[in-house]
Amino acid sequence: MTKPTIGLIGLGTMGAALALNIAEKGFGIAVWNRTTSVTEKFVAQAGNLAQQITPAETLTDFVAAIAPPRAVILMVPAGQAVDDQLTALAPLLGPDDLVIDAGNANFHDTNRRAASGLPFRFMGIGVSGGEEGARHGPAIMAGGAELDWARIAPVLQAIAARAEDGTPCAAHLGPDGAGHFVKAVHNGIEYADMQMIAETYGVMRDGLAMPAPEIGAAFARWNAGPLQSYLVEISAAVAQATDPVGQGPLLDMIVDAAGQKGTGRWTAIEAQTLAAPIPVIEAAVMARNVSAQRAERAAGERVYGPAPQSLTGILSVDDLEQALIAGKILCYAQGFAMMTAAAAEFRWALDMPAIARVWRAGCIIRSAMLNDMATALAEVPGRNLILSDFFAGHLRHSIPALRRVVAAGAMHGLALPALGAGLAWFDMMRTARGTANMIQGQRDFFGLHGFERLDGLPRPHGPWAAA
Ligand code: 6PG
Repeated sequence: MTKPTIGLIGLGTMGAALALNIAEKGFGIAVWNRTTSVTEKFVAQAGNLAQQITPAETLTDFVAAIAPPRAVILMVPAGQAVDDQLTALAPLLGPDDLVIDAGNANFHDTNRRAASGLPFRFMGIGVSGGEEGARHGPAIMAGGAELDWARIAPVLQAIAARAEDGTPCAAHLGPDGAGHFVKAVHNGIEYADMQMIAETYGVMRDGLAMPAPEIGAAFARWNAGPLQSYLVEISAAVAQATDPVGQGPLLDMIVDAAGQKGTGRWTAIEAQTLAAPIPVIEAAVMARNVSAQRAERAAGERVYGPAPQSLTGILSVDDLEQALIAGKILCYAQGFAMMTAAAAEFRWALDMPAIARVWRAGCIIRSAMLNDMATALAEVPGRNLILSDFFAGHLRHSIPALRRVVAAGAMHGLALPALGAGLAWFDMMRTARGTANMIQGQRDFFGLHGFERLDGLPRPHGPWAAA
């Protein structure tokens, strides 16, 4: 067997799946894991693909097993482990070798590493799709130098998911941390989409007294329409599953506290730094944090009693479907607008239609709407998605239902933070004369900060200012 030119470090769930995917596409690959028994087990379970795989016991053997110029994919936990691995590789690799961090790195770390004078080439790529995606076709968001992308693209495009038109869902999106930044926004949208689905689930469970399997059937129906997406599809399956150890729906047995590794939070933090409004994503991060406060929530219910919740006869399942359609458009619109702000701030030529196209298959937020989003984003670069004719048409149709759902939730004590945040943002975005004139007046009153006048006349301060 000729020496492979690719290697992969880190045979955890994602790394192992990615290595098998690469081997299956006909590329030889060297693999190394800190614990040798993990490597041995991986090769033993690789079946026919083991022929394509060169296991190594030490990092030195691993590097020696790859023909230069090497491409080494890192699939180790984000953070210090990446820095440690880069340090360990430094004396072993040459200037033409390329190391690709394919974990969920914070893009600031990727920027820092790219600028740190590493003695080899370096790229940061976002990989989405969980284990299944990594094994059979993830979406790949690459950041780094164009020439490095050109070198590794044949491999990444071969292993990536394919959209319906056959295009691989792998693209070079910009330099340095651009790929990891886009992956973070992907995860922010993922959080928001999941939260809005959970909110519609809550209305069906607590407001409409629907049992979990019936809710699952509603999600399955929605998945045949404009909401067709991976997250709605799996929500149907989750709601319809029965408890393998007890009785009844498994969903009813799952503790209502969401975990998080932090990528959604990074997106919210970065949005604040960029002054980019992403309230649906922020609400979703907040809701995960509140979900974790189980004892406090139970104490709150003891003090205030359960909210009056019945919405039977007030809302329909169709209203919820329309509300989710509106919420989804609003949250993607916010995510794309945030990336437009980032592109300007970081001087990245982020190609929004290309990002929408990469997200069409393989990733967690894949959705039938992304084709139309790519088209709308290409019509007028930089324009907010909600201003495109196509999505304005969708929103005109679905916003009344979102309004009914959010209002009913507010009146009946059902929390709908993400859907509510989407509606509030929409109403601000369609109001030419807002209310910040009052804020400017207040700022001038207490701090002489000044303001602009609508008539353009020079009037730097109000009459409240001391002469
Ligand atoms: C993906 C996912 C993935 C993410 C997990 C868990 O695109 O495949 O976004 O990268 O890490 O889904 O995320 P949380 O633990 O933050 O929910």
